[in-house]
Amino acid sequence: MSARSDAIARRFGDGGPSGEGAEDNDLIRRVLSRKTVRRYSERMPTDELLDLLVACALSASAKSDFQQASILRVRDQEKRAAIGKLFPAMPWIGIAPVFLVFLGDARRLQRIGEMRGKPVENGTLEGFFNASIDAALAMQTMILCAESAGLGVCPISVIRNEVDKVSAILGLPDLVFPVAGLCLGYPQGEGYVSLRLPRGVTTHSDRYDDSGLAVGIDDYDHRRNALHAIPREQQRSNAEFGEAAFYGWSEDKARQAAKAEGAAFPPYLRAHGFSFD
Ligand SMILES: Cc1cc2nc3c(=O)[nH]c(=O)nc-3n(C[C@H](O)[C@H](O)[C@H](O)COP(=O)(O)O)c2cc1C
Repeated sequence: MSARSDAIARRFGDGGPSGEGAEDNDLIRRVLSRKTVRRYSERMPTDELLDLLVACALSASAKSDFQQASILRVRDQEKRAAIGKLFPAMPWIGIAPVFLVFLGDARRLQRIGEMRGKPVENGTLEGFFNASIDAALAMQTMILCAESAGLGVCPISVIRNEVDKVSAILGLPDLVFPVAGLCLGYPQGEGYVSLRLPRGVTTHSDRYDDSGLAVGIDDYDHRRNALHAIPREQQRSNAEFGEAAFYGWSEDKARQAAKAEGAAFPPYLRAHGFSFD
């Protein structure tokens, strides 16, 4: 087995294609083995490295070349602390060496329309969706480049649960919204590669077909459980759903999704320039 097919097996463990025979490279091997990091050493990434990573992020593809991503670095310690305090269950938000916020920025194009005297209406669903995707692509590009430079990162979408407070702290104007924060720093500890769903569930050929979902998820739950079982004390919402004898990924995600997050986000967006028409 090559290092690459080994990495694919570790990522999926589904006995699927191993990529054997295809030429790989350093980036491909890194992506296959990448992992989110939530604990960082005290070493601070240099400003020069951060500038480089921002340039990489802003080199990501952008819908229609509208370039609707913006990146905000939170340097001010009081602002960092104020944001961190909103999410005590995720202490890495307040203490990671670097914290960036990736913004969907539908405002810039709206303003350019005004500057050029054109009737731009960018608070539409299309404007929101395009700006969201641009910001997500920019963030993922930074993630991969940061990891290749030896940094560890953790995206932070929980900030949207307190979008009013976070936006007030960051002074976000209408038509600009946080897609996610990003913690960055040099990793402390190893972490682990998170097993992905079997490709029989997430890929299709010529025609969408999820007839194998139940079997695929069951198989995944058991394989994932054998690698990283979720401890009994981390079962969610036991008061409501009861203690599960077998608590796999799908039970955890179904319980998580049953407690819908993000209730504050739609009213925030509607109050800040988005009609979604
Ligand atoms: C858009 C997005 C938002 C996320 N938000 C959070 C978050 O708020 N807090 C957190 O600790 N991790 C967050 N994560 C990290 C995911 O939990 C992590 O990517 C997932 O468990 C898979 O692990 P892996 O990236 O190591 O493969 C987020 C990831 C993404 C892509």
